[in-house]
Amino acid sequence: MSAAVILGVGGSLPERIVTNDDLATSLDTTDEWIRSRTGIRTRRWVGPGTSTADLAVDAGARALRSASRSTVDAVIVATTTPDRSCPAVAPEVASRLGMIGVPAHDVSAVCTGFLYGLANAVGLIASGAARTVLLIAAETFSTILDPADRGTAVIFGDGAGAIVVGEGEPGAISLGAISLGAVGPCVLGSDGTGADLIQVPAGDQYFRMRGKEVFRQAVERMSDVALDALARTGLGPDDVDHLAPHQANRRICDAVAHRIGVEESRVLSNVDTVGNTAAASIPVLLAEAAADGRVKAGDRVLTVAFGGGLTWGAATLVWPDVTADFGVLGRVGRR
Ligand code: UT7
Repeated sequence: MSAAVILGVGGSLPERIVTNDDLATSLDTTDEWIRSRTGIRTRRWVGPGTSTADLAVDAGARALRSASRSTVDAVIVATTTPDRSCPAVAPEVASRLGMIGVPAHDVSAVCTGFLYGLANAVGLIASGAARTVLLIAAETFSTILDPADRGTAVIFGDGAGAIVVGEGEPGAISLGAISLGAVGPCVLGSDGTGADLIQVPAGDQYFRMRGKEVFRQAVERMSDVALDALARTGLGPDDVDHLAPHQANRRICDAVAHRIGVEESRVLSNVDTVGNTAAASIPVLLAEAAADGRVKAGDRVLTVAFGGGLTWGAATLVWPDVTADFGVLGRVGRR
Protein backbone atom coordinates (compact mmCIF):
# COMPACT_ATOMS: atom_id res chain seq x y z
CA MET A 1 0.00 0.00 0.00
CA SER A 2 1.27 3.46 -0.80
CA ALA A 3 0.24 6.23 1.56
CA ALA A 4 2.62 8.74 0.05
CA VAL A 5 3.79 10.36 -3.17
CA ILE A 6 6.93 12.32 -4.03
CA LEU A 7 6.16 15.99 -4.77
CA GLY A 8 9.64 17.46 -5.21
CA VAL A 9 13.30 16.45 -5.53
CA GLY A 10 16.55 18.30 -4.77
CA GLY A 11 20.26 17.64 -4.42
CA SER A 12 23.35 19.61 -3.40
CA LEU A 13 27.07 18.91 -3.65
CA PRO A 14 29.99 20.86 -2.20
CA GLU A 15 32.14 22.71 -4.70
CA ARG A 16 35.54 21.12 -4.03
CA ILE A 17 36.42 18.15 -6.27
CA VAL A 18 39.02 15.71 -4.90
CA THR A 19 40.63 13.38 -7.46
CA ASN A 20 42.23 10.00 -6.87
CA ASP A 21 45.57 11.54 -7.77
CA ASP A 22 45.03 14.20 -5.10
CA LEU A 23 44.63 11.41 -2.52
CA ALA A 24 47.62 9.49 -3.86
CA THR A 25 49.90 12.39 -2.97
CA SER A 26 49.48 11.58 0.75
CA LEU A 27 48.25 7.94 0.78
CA ASP A 28 49.83 4.68 -0.44
CA THR A 29 47.29 4.26 -3.24
CA THR A 30 46.85 4.84 -6.97
CA ASP A 31 44.18 6.14 -9.31
CA GLU A 32 44.23 2.72 -11.00
CA TRP A 33 43.57 0.84 -7.73
CA ILE A 34 40.73 3.14 -6.66
CA ARG A 35 39.03 3.11 -10.07
CA SER A 36 39.27 -0.66 -10.56
CA ARG A 37 38.26 -1.60 -6.98
CA THR A 38 35.53 0.99 -6.43
CA GLY A 39 34.63 2.75 -9.71
CA ILE A 40 35.37 6.13 -8.10
CA ARG A 41 37.29 8.79 -10.07
CA THR A 42 36.45 11.87 -8.00
CA ARG A 43 34.44 12.80 -4.92
CA ARG A 44 33.39 16.16 -3.49
CA TRP A 45 34.46 17.25 -0.02
CA VAL A 46 33.30 20.28 1.95
CA GLY A 47 35.83 22.98 2.74
CA PRO A 48 36.38 24.43 6.22
CA GLY A 49 33.29 26.21 7.47
CA THR A 50 30.75 24.16 5.49
CA SER A 51 28.59 21.93 7.67
CA THR A 52 26.19 19.05 7.21
CA ALA A 53 23.38 21.50 8.01
CA ASP A 54 24.58 23.82 5.21
CA LEU A 55 24.31 21.01 2.64
CA ALA A 56 20.99 19.88 4.12
CA VAL A 57 19.51 23.39 3.91
CA ASP A 58 20.59 23.76 0.28
CA ALA A 59 19.20 20.36 -0.75
CA GLY A 60 16.02 20.99 1.25
CA ALA A 61 15.48 24.42 -0.35
CA ARG A 62 15.94 22.86 -3.78
CA ALA A 63 13.39 20.09 -3.02
CA LEU A 64 10.89 22.65 -1.75
CA ARG A 65 11.43 24.70 -4.93
CA SER A 66 10.95 21.57 -7.03
CA ALA A 67 7.67 20.94 -5.17
CA SER A 68 6.61 24.60 -5.58
CA ARG A 69 6.11 25.03 -1.80
CA SER A 70 7.70 27.03 0.92
CA THR A 71 6.65 24.94 3.92
CA VAL A 72 5.80 21.37 4.95
CA ASP A 73 4.31 19.82 8.09
CA ALA A 74 7.47 17.99 9.24
CA VAL A 75 11.20 17.80 8.52
CA ILE A 76 13.40 14.70 8.79
CA VAL A 77 17.18 14.70 8.33
CA ALA A 78 18.99 11.38 7.83
CA THR A 79 22.67 11.72 8.69
CA THR A 80 25.63 9.86 10.18
CA THR A 81 27.68 13.03 10.37
CA PRO A 82 25.64 15.57 12.37
CA ASP A 83 27.52 18.77 13.13
CA ARG A 84 27.20 17.97 16.86
CA SER A 85 26.00 14.90 18.71
CA CYS A 86 23.20 16.83 20.47
CA PRO A 87 20.76 18.31 19.52
CA ALA A 88 19.61 16.90 16.19
CA VAL A 89 20.36 18.72 12.92
CA ALA A 90 16.74 18.74 11.70
CA PRO A 91 15.36 21.56 13.92
CA GLU A 92 18.21 23.87 12.83
CA VAL A 93 17.63 22.94 9.18
CA ALA A 94 13.87 23.48 9.48
CA SER A 95 14.38 26.89 11.08
CA ARG A 96 16.93 27.96 8.47
CA LEU A 97 14.36 26.98 5.82
CA GLY A 98 11.87 29.31 7.49
CA MET A 99 9.86 26.62 9.27
CA ILE A 100 10.11 27.46 12.99
CA GLY A 101 7.52 25.40 14.88
CA VAL A 102 7.28 22.32 12.65
CA PRO A 103 8.25 18.91 14.09
CA ALA A 104 11.80 18.01 13.06
CA HIS A 105 13.97 15.01 13.91
CA ASP A 106 17.07 13.13 12.75
CA VAL A 107 17.33 9.52 11.61
CA SER A 108 20.57 7.58 12.14
CA ALA A 109 20.91 4.48 9.96
CA VAL A 110 24.23 5.22 8.19
CA CYS A 111 24.05 4.35 4.48
CA THR A 112 20.44 3.14 4.82
CA GLY A 113 19.42 6.48 6.37
CA PHE A 114 17.46 7.75 3.39
CA LEU A 115 15.26 4.64 3.26
CA TYR A 116 14.72 4.60 7.04
CA GLY A 117 13.83 8.28 6.72
CA LEU A 118 11.45 7.50 3.89
CA ALA A 119 9.65 4.95 6.05
CA ASN A 120 9.42 7.59 8.82
CA ALA A 121 8.01 10.15 6.37
CA VAL A 122 5.42 7.72 5.01
CA GLY A 123 4.52 6.77 8.58
CA LEU A 124 3.99 10.39 9.65
CA ILE A 125 1.63 10.82 6.70
CA ALA A 126 -0.17 7.50 7.22
CA SER A 127 -0.75 8.31 10.91
CA GLY A 128 -2.20 11.70 10.10
CA ALA A 129 0.59 13.53 11.95
CA ALA A 130 1.63 15.31 8.74
CA ARG A 131 0.26 15.82 5.26
CA THR A 132 3.63 16.84 3.78
CA VAL A 133 7.16 15.95 4.91
CA LEU A 134 10.57 17.21 3.79
CA LEU A 135 13.06 14.32 3.97
CA ILE A 136 16.71 15.31 3.62
CA ALA A 137 19.73 12.99 3.72
CA ALA A 138 22.96 14.90 4.24
CA GLU A 139 26.53 13.82 4.98
CA THR A 140 29.99 15.30 5.46
CA PHE A 141 31.90 12.03 5.78
CA SER A 142 35.14 13.85 4.91
CA THR A 143 35.06 15.26 8.45
CA ILE A 144 35.30 11.80 10.08
CA LEU A 145 37.72 10.07 7.66
CA ASP A 146 41.18 9.12 8.91
CA PRO A 147 43.41 10.75 6.28
CA ALA A 148 45.96 7.96 6.86
CA ASP A 149 43.48 5.07 6.28
CA ARG A 150 43.49 4.18 2.59
CA GLY A 151 40.66 1.66 3.10
CA THR A 152 38.15 4.44 3.88
CA ALA A 153 39.67 7.79 2.83
CA VAL A 154 39.33 6.98 -0.88
CA ILE A 155 35.70 5.85 -0.75
CA PHE A 156 33.53 8.48 0.88
CA GLY A 157 32.24 11.82 -0.39
CA ASP A 158 30.02 14.63 0.91
CA GLY A 159 26.60 15.71 -0.36
CA ALA A 160 22.88 15.98 0.34
CA GLY A 161 19.67 14.90 -1.37
CA ALA A 162 16.07 15.67 -0.47
CA ILE A 163 12.49 14.91 -1.38
CA VAL A 164 9.13 16.37 -0.43
CA VAL A 165 6.57 13.65 0.28
CA GLY A 166 2.80 14.18 0.46
CA GLU A 167 -0.41 12.21 0.88
CA GLY A 168 -1.00 9.51 -1.73
CA GLU A 169 -3.52 6.90 -2.72
CA PRO A 170 -3.42 3.50 -0.98
CA GLY A 171 -2.30 0.82 -3.42
CA ALA A 172 -0.99 3.43 -5.86
CA ILE A 173 2.01 1.38 -6.88
CA SER A 174 1.51 -2.06 -8.35
CA LEU A 175 1.61 -3.63 -11.77
CA GLY A 176 -1.94 -2.58 -12.58
CA ALA A 177 -2.15 0.82 -10.90
CA ILE A 178 0.68 3.32 -11.22
CA SER A 179 0.42 6.79 -9.68
CA LEU A 180 3.10 9.36 -10.48
CA GLY A 181 5.38 9.78 -7.47
CA ALA A 182 3.99 6.79 -5.57
CA VAL A 183 6.17 5.31 -2.84
CA GLY A 184 5.93 1.53 -2.44
CA PRO A 185 6.31 -0.32 0.85
CA CYS A 186 9.67 0.35 2.56
CA VAL A 187 11.26 -2.95 3.57
CA LEU A 188 13.86 -2.49 6.32
CA GLY A 189 16.16 -4.68 8.42
CA SER A 190 19.05 -4.62 10.88
CA ASP A 191 21.65 -6.88 12.52
CA GLY A 192 23.49 -5.35 15.47
CA THR A 193 25.86 -8.30 15.76
CA GLY A 194 27.75 -6.66 12.90
CA ALA A 195 27.98 -3.24 14.59
CA ASP A 196 31.77 -3.36 14.64
CA LEU A 197 32.06 -3.72 10.84
CA ILE A 198 31.22 -0.04 10.23
CA GLN A 199 31.69 2.30 13.18
CA VAL A 200 33.23 5.29 14.85
CA PRO A 201 34.55 3.47 17.94
CA ALA A 202 33.88 5.18 21.27
CA GLY A 203 36.74 7.57 21.99
CA ASP A 204 37.91 7.58 18.34
CA GLN A 205 37.32 10.60 16.14
CA TYR A 206 37.56 8.54 12.96
CA PHE A 207 35.29 6.23 11.00
CA ARG A 208 36.48 2.59 10.72
CA MET A 209 35.28 -0.10 8.31
CA ARG A 210 36.12 -3.76 7.72
CA GLY A 211 35.69 -3.40 3.97
CA LYS A 212 35.94 -6.99 2.76
CA GLU A 213 33.31 -8.36 5.17
CA VAL A 214 31.05 -5.35 4.53
CA PHE A 215 31.34 -6.00 0.80
CA ARG A 216 30.17 -9.62 1.14
CA GLN A 217 27.24 -8.79 3.41
CA ALA A 218 26.24 -5.75 1.33
CA VAL A 219 25.80 -7.84 -1.82
CA GLU A 220 23.73 -10.51 -0.04
CA ARG A 221 21.52 -8.18 2.00
CA MET A 222 20.90 -5.69 -0.79
CA SER A 223 19.93 -8.44 -3.24
CA ASP A 224 17.57 -10.12 -0.79
CA VAL A 225 15.83 -6.95 0.41
CA ALA A 226 15.49 -5.58 -3.14
CA LEU A 227 13.71 -8.75 -4.25
CA ASP A 228 11.52 -8.57 -1.13
CA ALA A 229 10.48 -4.96 -1.88
CA LEU A 230 9.68 -5.89 -5.47
CA ALA A 231 7.60 -8.88 -4.42
CA ARG A 232 5.63 -6.78 -1.90
CA THR A 233 4.83 -4.33 -4.69
CA GLY A 234 3.71 -7.14 -7.00
CA LEU A 235 6.55 -6.38 -9.43
CA GLY A 236 9.36 -8.50 -10.86
CA PRO A 237 12.89 -7.46 -11.96
CA ASP A 238 11.70 -7.01 -15.58
CA ASP A 239 9.18 -4.35 -14.47
CA VAL A 240 11.93 -2.10 -13.11
CA ASP A 241 13.04 0.78 -15.36
CA HIS A 242 15.93 1.75 -13.07
CA LEU A 243 17.78 0.15 -10.18
CA ALA A 244 19.03 2.97 -7.92
CA PRO A 245 21.38 1.23 -5.48
CA HIS A 246 23.24 2.95 -2.65
CA GLN A 247 26.51 3.98 -4.32
CA ALA A 248 28.74 1.96 -2.00
CA ASN A 249 31.12 0.69 -4.64
CA ARG A 250 30.56 0.08 -8.35
CA ARG A 251 31.39 -3.63 -7.90
CA ILE A 252 28.76 -4.00 -5.15
CA CYS A 253 26.10 -2.33 -7.33
CA ASP A 254 26.98 -4.51 -10.33
CA ALA A 255 26.89 -7.69 -8.23
CA VAL A 256 23.47 -6.78 -6.77
CA ALA A 257 22.06 -6.00 -10.21
CA HIS A 258 23.36 -9.30 -11.56
CA ARG A 259 21.90 -11.27 -8.64
CA ILE A 260 18.43 -9.78 -8.91
CA GLY A 261 18.34 -9.91 -12.71
CA VAL A 262 18.56 -6.23 -13.75
CA GLU A 263 20.99 -5.65 -16.63
CA GLU A 264 23.65 -2.93 -16.52
CA SER A 265 21.79 -0.51 -18.82
CA ARG A 266 19.05 -0.18 -16.16
CA VAL A 267 21.43 0.49 -13.24
CA LEU A 268 21.79 4.16 -12.27
CA SER A 269 25.27 5.14 -11.13
CA ASN A 270 27.20 8.26 -10.14
CA VAL A 271 29.77 6.71 -7.80
CA ASP A 272 32.47 7.69 -10.33
CA THR A 273 31.99 11.42 -9.63
CA VAL A 274 30.60 11.59 -6.06
CA GLY A 275 31.95 8.46 -4.33
CA ASN A 276 29.98 6.91 -1.49
CA THR A 277 27.94 9.69 0.16
CA ALA A 278 26.38 7.31 2.74
CA ALA A 279 22.78 8.29 3.62
CA ALA A 280 22.77 10.94 0.88
CA SER A 281 23.75 8.48 -1.82
CA ILE A 282 20.31 7.44 -3.16
CA PRO A 283 18.64 10.89 -3.20
CA VAL A 284 21.76 12.50 -4.70
CA LEU A 285 21.78 9.82 -7.40
CA LEU A 286 18.06 10.24 -8.11
CA ALA A 287 18.20 14.05 -8.13
CA GLU A 288 21.13 14.01 -10.53
CA ALA A 289 19.60 11.36 -12.80
CA ALA A 290 16.28 13.19 -12.92
CA ALA A 291 17.94 16.56 -13.56
CA ASP A 292 19.94 15.18 -16.50
CA GLY A 293 16.97 13.29 -17.97
CA ARG A 294 18.03 9.70 -17.25
CA VAL A 295 14.96 9.23 -15.05
CA LYS A 296 11.58 10.41 -16.35
CA ALA A 297 8.03 10.77 -15.01
CA GLY A 298 6.35 7.38 -14.72
CA ASP A 299 9.58 5.34 -14.58
CA ARG A 300 9.55 2.55 -11.99
CA VAL A 301 12.61 2.84 -9.73
CA LEU A 302 13.89 0.25 -7.27
CA THR A 303 16.02 1.74 -4.48
CA VAL A 304 18.14 -0.40 -2.17
CA ALA A 305 20.77 0.28 0.49
CA PHE A 306 23.03 -1.37 3.07
CA GLY A 307 25.13 0.24 5.76
CA GLY A 308 26.36 0.48 9.32
CA GLY A 309 24.30 -0.91 12.12
CA LEU A 310 24.19 -3.14 10.23
CA THR A 311 21.10 -1.86 8.44
CA TRP A 312 19.51 -2.44 5.07
CA GLY A 313 16.38 -1.48 3.16
CA ALA A 314 14.63 -1.19 -0.19
CA ALA A 315 11.61 0.56 -1.67
CA THR A 316 10.00 0.92 -5.08
CA LEU A 317 9.04 4.36 -6.43
CA VAL A 318 7.20 5.64 -9.46
CA TRP A 319 9.06 8.73 -10.62
CA PRO A 320 7.01 11.94 -10.21
CA ASP A 321 6.35 14.55 -12.89
CA VAL A 322 8.51 17.24 -11.26
CA THR A 323 11.63 19.19 -12.23
CA ALA A 324 14.48 18.05 -10.00
CA ASP A 325 16.66 20.88 -8.67
CA PHE A 326 20.24 19.62 -8.43
CA GLY A 327 23.41 21.69 -8.17
CA VAL A 328 26.44 22.87 -6.28
CA LEU A 329 26.09 24.50 -2.84
CA GLY A 330 25.97 28.25 -3.20
CA ARG A 331 25.18 28.17 -6.91
CA VAL A 332 21.67 28.45 -8.32
CA GLY A 333 20.59 25.83 -10.87
CA ARG A 334 22.60 23.05 -12.50
CA ARG A 335 26.30 22.38 -12.02
O1 UT7 B 1 28.49 2.22 2.23
C1 UT7 B 1 28.23 1.00 2.84
C2 UT7 B 1 29.41 0.50 3.56
N1 UT7 B 1 30.61 0.43 2.80
C3 UT7 B 1 30.77 -0.40 1.73
O2 UT7 B 1 29.86 -0.98 1.21
C4 UT7 B 1 32.18 -0.62 1.23
C5 UT7 B 1 32.40 -2.09 1.06
N2 UT7 B 1 33.76 -2.48 0.79
C6 UT7 B 1 34.48 -2.08 -0.29
O3 UT7 B 1 34.03 -1.26 -1.07
C7 UT7 B 1 35.81 -2.73 -0.52
O4 UT7 B 1 35.99 -3.77 0.39
C8 UT7 B 1 37.00 -1.76 -0.44
C9 UT7 B 1 36.99 -0.82 -1.61
C10 UT7 B 1 36.97 -0.98 0.87
C11 UT7 B 1 38.31 -2.55 -0.49
O5 UT7 B 1 38.33 -3.33 -1.68
P1 UT7 B 1 38.69 -4.88 -1.62
O6 UT7 B 1 38.71 -5.33 -3.01
O7 UT7 B 1 37.73 -5.55 -0.67
O8 UT7 B 1 40.14 -4.86 -1.04
P2 UT7 B 1 40.69 -5.51 0.32
O9 UT7 B 1 40.19 -4.78 1.52
O10 UT7 B 1 40.54 -6.99 0.26
O11 UT7 B 1 42.23 -5.20 0.13
C12 UT7 B 1 43.01 -5.77 -0.92
C13 UT7 B 1 44.40 -5.16 -0.84
C14 UT7 B 1 44.99 -5.15 0.56
O12 UT7 B 1 46.38 -5.37 0.46
P3 UT7 B 1 46.99 -6.84 0.75
O13 UT7 B 1 46.55 -7.19 2.13
O14 UT7 B 1 46.37 -7.73 -0.30
O15 UT7 B 1 48.45 -6.61 0.59
C15 UT7 B 1 44.71 -3.75 1.05
O16 UT7 B 1 45.66 -3.32 2.02
O17 UT7 B 1 44.32 -3.79 -1.24
C16 UT7 B 1 44.91 -2.97 -0.23
N3 UT7 B 1 44.21 -1.68 -0.23
C17 UT7 B 1 44.60 -0.68 -1.03
N4 UT7 B 1 45.58 -0.57 -1.94
C18 UT7 B 1 45.69 0.59 -2.59
C19 UT7 B 1 43.15 -1.30 0.50
N5 UT7 B 1 42.81 -0.03 0.18
C20 UT7 B 1 43.70 0.38 -0.76
C21 UT7 B 1 43.87 1.56 -1.47
N6 UT7 B 1 44.88 1.62 -2.39
N7 UT7 B 1 43.08 2.63 -1.31
